[in-house]
Amino acid sequence: MNIKQTRDQAVAQTMQSIRDIEKEMGVNYPALKRMRTEMISLTANRELFPPEDFPLDPTGRDVIYCLSEDNDHRFALYGSVGGEGKSVSPHNHTTWAVIVGVYGDEVNQFYQCTSGGKGPGPATLEQTGSFTVCHGNGVVFMPDDIHAIQTDDAVPTLHLHVYGLALDQLSDRLMFDTAAGTCARMPLTRGIKQV
Ligand SMILES: [Fe+2]
Repeated sequence: MNIKQTRDQAVAQTMQSIRDIEKEMGVNYPALKRMRTEMISLTANRELFPPEDFPLDPTGRDVIYCLSEDNDHRFALYGSVGGEGKSVSPHNHTTWAVIVGVYGDEVNQFYQCTSGGKGPGPATLEQTGSFTVCHGNGVVFMPDDIHAIQTDDAVPTLHLHVYGLALDQLSDRLMFDTAAGTCARMPLTRGIKQV
């Protein structure tokens, strides 16, 4: 088998484990932490994820590669490639999420809503913590959890993100503008590439 075939097989096994965990345990932090353990195992051998298989786009912009998605759009796994200076404002996911590192550091900042945030409009946040996701660790989020991410590495970073529902199906996500004290619908993720 070549690397892609080996990776696809490992991804399929991991995703089956993740489906089984959700079926057995439901959606809660203990279940998501078990999923994270599966994802860290998947990424233990970085030779399965060679950087040349996950390039930035020709203009140097960030790219999201789909590695797995069920026919009903559930259990979607992505490789998220970030260039230097990648930054995503605070947002929720409206589905559960597990993120683990492959290459580089992705700084996650965690927030909680102190007012608003049930829909677009006035909203205020306070930061509750931060964690740097890198190879060998990861973070988990319940649907209403809010985080922001930032990447300062000079070389492209790669992190694997697995969601309960595919990114291009999540039309009710909120993105927060902490300076303005507001939140708005987050644009649907588009331009997802296959790998
Ligand atoms: Fe996120």
